[in-house]
Amino acid sequence: MNTAYETIIFEAVEAGIYQLTLNRPKQLNALNATLLDEIQAVVAALETRTDARVLLLTGAGDKAFAAGADISQMVDKGMVEGQSFGRKGQRVFRRLETLPFPVIAVVNGYALGGGCELAMSCDWILASDKAQFGQPEVSLGVTPGFGGTQRLTRLVGRGRSMEMMTTGVCIDAQTACDWGLANRIYPADELMPAAVKMAQTITKQAPYAVAMCKQVIHRGEDLELETACVMEEQVFGLCFGTEDKKEGMSAFVEKRKAVFKGC
Ligand code: CAA
Repeated sequence: MNTAYETIIFEAVEAGIYQLTLNRPKQLNALNATLLDEIQAVVAALETRTDARVLLLTGAGDKAFAAGADISQMVDKGMVEGQSFGRKGQRVFRRLETLPFPVIAVVNGYALGGGCELAMSCDWILASDKAQFGQPEVSLGVTPGFGGTQRLTRLVGRGRSMEMMTTGVCIDAQTACDWGLANRIYPADELMPAAVKMAQTITKQAPYAVAMCKQVIHRGEDLELETACVMEEQVFGLCFGTEDKKEGMSAFVEKRKAVFKGC
C-alpha cells in the first residue's frame, strides 16, 4: 500500500481509516487517465484488505474536489474514443462504489462534471461551505459520461437533475444539502476533522453489520420492496451468526462497551 502515485495520495489516517486525495491541485484535480488508473489501483488493493473500514475521498488544495474529467485529454477524442473514456470512468467509479465499506466524499471546493460524478459514486457527501456542485458538460458539447445522468437523477430527482444538466449552472453547498445531494456542510477548515470524526464513529461499530448495511441499501435500491425486505431479513439472520453480534448484545446487557473483532 506504500506505492508512490503520480496523481493521487493514498494514506492510512489511523486504524481502519484510509484517505485518497486527488492530487493535481494546479489543474483543480481534473480527472485524467492516469488518475483514473490510480484510483482503480487503490480500489483493487482495498477490495482485499480486511482491515479497511472507511475510505475518505477528497481533493488537494483549497479550491477543488475535482473540476471534472481532464478536458485537455478529451479535446481530440472522437466518438469511439469518447465512449471508451466514458466506459473507463464508469467502471472505475462503479468499482469504488461497490467497495464493501463506506466511502465518504469530502468535497472541499468545486465538484464539477466527472468530479460531481465521482462524489456521487461515494456513499455520501460531506461538503465545505465553499463547495460547488455542477454538471456543466453541455457547455462543452457533451453529456455527463461517468454516471452522472443516472446517479444525480436518483439522488435529487428528475426535475432538479434536468435543471442542473441542461443549464450547466452550479449549485452551492446549501442547495446541495437541501436537495439531498450532500449530507452535511462544514466550514472549510472543519471539514476534514469532521469527516475523520464521522469515520471514527463508523470504525467503532461491528464491521460486518456496517458492510451488510451498505450492501442491502445499495442492492435494495433497484429492487421492489418485497424482494428487498426478504434480502434484509436474510442479512439480518446472517449477522446473528457472527461473534460480533454476541459481543454487541452481551455488552449491552452487561452494561459495558462492546469490543468488536470483525467476525
Ligand atoms: N480539465 C482540465 N483542466 C482543467 C479543468 C478540467 N476539467 N478544470 C480546470 N482546469 C485547469 C485550467 O485549465 C487551469 O489550468 P491553467 O492554469 O494551466 O490554465 C487550472 O485548472 C485552473 O483553472 P481556472 O484558471 O479555469 O480556474 P478558475 O478559478 O478561473 O475557474 C472553474 C474554475 C470554474 C472550475 C473552471 O476551471 C472550469 O470551468 N473548469 C472546467 C469545469 C468543467 O467543465 N468540467 C466538466 C468537464 S467534462 C466532464 O467531466 C465529462 C464527464 O462527465 C466525465
